[in-house]
Amino acid sequence: MSTQEIIQQFKPQQHNLLNILHAIQDHHPQNYLTEEALEETARYLKLTKSSVYGVAKYYTMFSLKPRGKYILRVCVSPVCELMKVNTVVAALEKKLEIKTGETTKDGLFTLEISECLGQCDEAPSMMINDKVYNHLDEKRIDELIREFAG
Ligand code: FES
Repeated sequence: MSTQEIIQQFKPQQHNLLNILHAIQDHHPQNYLTEEALEETARYLKLTKSSVYGVAKYYTMFSLKPRGKYILRVCVSPVCELMKVNTVVAALEKKLEIKTGETTKDGLFTLEISECLGQCDEAPSMMINDKVYNHLDEKRIDELIREFAG
């Protein structure tokens, strides 16, 4: 589906901006918003390009640079921190051979941190794309990465 087709699924009303940006990003194989997509969105909603760019930059769920097929968002809020999420982040960085904020060379995984995912009872937690994974430890990380790497 082209960017134009995605955009036209929504009415040309400014309150649809976030939904449009989400839809475009979700359809992009590299999970990000291209410059052209921001321009097309601005034109469609009759907004300035800089205001659309500003919104895309403001929200951490949007990316303006290519990311992996799977986005790992690890919660680093207080409860997860208490439950030693730092060891989870370290295990992910070691296993994927990247630092937080980076994408693996094969384009499969991007590692990001996030605020509370609302899973505090089952911390430490992270999301892989739209799904939440809880009770993380080094063993679980190994299993998940193996599973997603196929
Ligand atoms: S603090 Fe991590 S899920 Fe709430």
